[in-house]
Amino acid sequence: MTWEQEAHSIREMARKNNEMYGDALPMIASENILSPMCQEMLISDFHGRYAEGTPGQRYYQGCRWFDKVETRGMELARRLFDCAYADIRPTSGTVANMAVFKALAQPGDKVTVLDTASGAHISYGKWGAAGLRGLELHTYPFDQEHMVIDVDGATKVIREVEPVLALFGQSVFLFPTPLEEVAEAAHEVGAKVVYDAAHVLGLIAGGQFQQPLKEGADVMTGSTHKTLPGPQGGMILTDTPREDAKWMKQLDWGVFPGVTSSYHLHHVAAKAIAFAEHLAFGRDYAAQIVANAQRLASELHDRGFGVLGADYGFTRSHQIVFRVGEKKGAWAAEQLEKAGIIANMNMVPEDEHPLYPSGIRLGVQELTRLGMKEPEMEEVAVFFQRVLQNREDAAAVRRDVVAFKKNHRSIQYCFHPGGDPYRFISLIQ
Ligand SMILES: Cc1ncc(COP(=O)(O)O)c(C=O)c1O
Repeated sequence: MTWEQEAHSIREMARKNNEMYGDALPMIASENILSPMCQEMLISDFHGRYAEGTPGQRYYQGCRWFDKVETRGMELARRLFDCAYADIRPTSGTVANMAVFKALAQPGDKVTVLDTASGAHISYGKWGAAGLRGLELHTYPFDQEHMVIDVDGATKVIREVEPVLALFGQSVFLFPTPLEEVAEAAHEVGAKVVYDAAHVLGLIAGGQFQQPLKEGADVMTGSTHKTLPGPQGGMILTDTPREDAKWMKQLDWGVFPGVTSSYHLHHVAAKAIAFAEHLAFGRDYAAQIVANAQRLASELHDRGFGVLGADYGFTRSHQIVFRVGEKKGAWAAEQLEKAGIIANMNMVPEDEHPLYPSGIRLGVQELTRLGMKEPEMEEVAVFFQRVLQNREDAAAVRRDVVAFKKNHRSIQYCFHPGGDPYRFISLIQ
C-alpha cells in the first residue's frame, strides 16, 4: 500500500465507524454525541493553535479571538454550575483530577478514596493519577446494596486517616453520594473535599442529581463529554471566590503549567457552545435521561434481569447495572455488540476480577439525545431480552435494531443553525 492508500484506508475506517454507530444503539455510559455547532468548532482554525496561560496573559500572540471565547466559556460554565470559578482548560476528566492532585496535595500525602472495585475511577487508584502523584490511598467501605459509600465507615476512615484530600465520585454511579455527612468529617480534620462528577456533570447542571458544591465539596472535577454532551475534555469548578483563597492560584497552576501546555483550543470553543446549549436545553435533557434510565431499568427488571439497586428505584442517574451470570459480562457484551447494541461489561458487587465480571453497565444519555423517551426504552428492553435471554440469532436482532435506529438519528437538545446535523460525517464521506 502507498502512503496515500494508507491515508485513504484510515479515512475509510472512520467512515465505516460512523456507519456502525449510525446503525447501532450506543449505550456506553461515558459517551455522547456532539451537536452540529460543537462539531464545527472541532474543525475550526482553533484546532491548530496554542494559547498557553490565561486570557490576556499569553505566552504567544494571535490569541485575540480565543481570549474572548475562553473568557465567555468560563462565564457560561460559572452560570451553568452556579459557582464562582471554572477552569475549562483540562483536556479530560483525568487531567482535571491530575491538576487537582498536583495543586492540593504533595507526594506522600494521605487521601481517602473509594476503591475501583466498588466503582471508583482509575484516576484515584494506585496505577492512575493518584499513584502518579505519589499519594497514599486509604479506602472507604462501600454499601453494596445501595451502591454508595458506607457513611459511618467512611466517616470513621476520614477521622482516623486525617487525609489532605477526601475524594468522592464514581464511574459506576447509580445514586448520589451522601456528601454532607462525610464532607463535615473531612472539614473537621482539615481535608479538602473533591467530588469527581465526570459521569454526572450534565445531570448536576440540569438539576437532576446532587449539587456537590452546595453539599460540602470544595472542588468539583468532571468530563465534558458524558452526560454533559460537549467535546472530549474536562473542567474544574469551585465555589470559593478566587480572591478569597490562596489555593485558587495553586489550582490555576495545577492546570498550567502543571498538566497542560496547549489545551486544545478547538475543544475549549466547543465546550463553550456545549455550555450555552446545556443552559438552554439541559434541564429537559437531564430530566429525560433520568426518566429513561429508570424506565429501562424497570423494564429490564420486569423481564427478569438482575438490575442493581432494585430496593432504591434502580437508579437516579443515566446508568443502569445488571447481572448476567457469573463471569458472563464479556460474553453478554459481545452478544449485544453483534446485535448492534454497544455496552460494556462491568463488575458487580461479588466480582473479584475486572477482566471476568458478571454484569453489564448501560447509559441512556446518548439514546436520550437522539430523542428517545420512555416508550422507546420498552423497545430497547425487548432487544436485550431477545439477545441475552431468548438467545435469538444476533444478526436477526441486529436487523431490527438498525430499522429501529433509522427513526432516531437526529440530535436533540441543541441548536441547529441550518444544514445537516451530520455535517462532520459528510465532510469525510
Ligand atoms: C469518575 C470518573 N472520573 C474520571 C474519569 C475520566 O474521565 P476522562 O475520560 O474524561 O479522562 C472517568 C471516566 O469515565 C470517570 O468515570
